[in-house]
Amino acid sequence: MFMKKYLAIDIGNRKTKIVLGGIEKDKIVVDNYFITDTPTGIMEDGKITNLNGLIAMLKDSLKKGKIRGKHLVMSITGTGIITRDIQLPKSTDEELEKILGFEAQQYFPVELDNYILDFKVLEEIDSGDGVFNRVLLVAAPVNQVDEFMKVHKRLNKEIEAIDIPANNICKVLFGEAYVGKELNGKELPHEFAVLDLGAKTTGVYIFSSGKLKFSRILLNGSGDIDDLIASQLNVDFSKAEEIKIMVGNLIADDDLINPNSEDAKISNLIKPAVNNLMSDINRFIEFYNSRSTGNRLDRIFLCGGGSKLKGIDIYFRTYFNIPVEFLDPQKFVLYKGHKKMEEFSEDFVLLVNALGCLVRS
Ligand SMILES: Nc1ncnc2c1ncn2[C@@H]1O[C@H](COP(=O)(O)OP(=O)(O)OP(=O)(O)O)[C@@H](O)[C@H]1O
Ligand SMILES: [Mg+2]
Repeated sequence: MFMKKYLAIDIGNRKTKIVLGGIEKDKIVVDNYFITDTPTGIMEDGKITNLNGLIAMLKDSLKKGKIRGKHLVMSITGTGIITRDIQLPKSTDEELEKILGFEAQQYFPVELDNYILDFKVLEEIDSGDGVFNRVLLVAAPVNQVDEFMKVHKRLNKEIEAIDIPANNICKVLFGEAYVGKELNGKELPHEFAVLDLGAKTTGVYIFSSGKLKFSRILLNGSGDIDDLIASQLNVDFSKAEEIKIMVGNLIADDDLINPNSEDAKISNLIKPAVNNLMSDINRFIEFYNSRSTGNRLDRIFLCGGGSKLKGIDIYFRTYFNIPVEFLDPQKFVLYKGHKKMEEFSEDFVLLVNALGCLVRS
């Protein structure tokens, strides 16, 4: 059977990622991708605020990237989207849908008429008194989803799905039908966290035995470092980002002979923003560790553009006191595009969320 190709779009606060690809055996196959700046003012907290601007940017990107593909999958996020992790007696998807039709309201503090509901079975639990499904419930505001549903029409595509980052990350790591499956020889540790360090947000995803146990999206990110540089050095935000990327190095003051060098000064300047982020992440990790005595993270995997900050892996490792690595593209992806493999490998950390959109049964 030939594989179905999907066109994945992840509109980040800073960068928009477009990927064309599908699944071959247990690997994600990427045929083509394109990354561009998300213009200011077209998205706000995951909501489309300027549809015309968004469509213009996407059309331009598809053209520049020479990306075809008909079957669109979009990533959606934002503080308006509410998730709940609940347990229900083991049932089929059809039965779950019926149960939730009656019972969903009790799980959400909002008027559900204004929301679109979806769910995903995360795991089967065989407890003493029966078999349960642990279910991730998702409620997305109707008006937010409605704007997303206009995109495919304007691009003359078909919409296949709109998915959230937590599910996308799961699918990159474990595939679509990850419930009850072994880890497909990807040799992931027993308990680990994936941190998606974005520009304005940081996704915290904790896994145990191949199951998503915890997910949160924090409202700080790599852009906090730009803000700090901008205010301290009195430069604009794009200059500040450039300084972060070119000179920012979290371990410069340890390694350099001259602790008074410019690099060491920048390193010390940006640390408060990174420390702040780490302590917020740590609160979630400690919460997770405290929920059960067996919970203890073995490793942290980093992705997102913010993970490209020099020295961040070593800095995180020192703080969290566990091994910190970058997600390894070769474990998950077969790149068949025309760009150099090194370029794709560099870009991979930015693409993770979009890559999850390609994984569909
Ligand atoms: N080499 C680098 N060094 C440090 N930071 C970098 C580097 N390259 C990119 N970044 C930062 O990564 C961020 C963009 O990453 P990413 O594309 O994952 O964010 P986003 O998805 O647009 O944001 P969000 O997830 O919050 O919506 C920017 O803040 C950018 O400055
Ligand atoms: Mg992102």
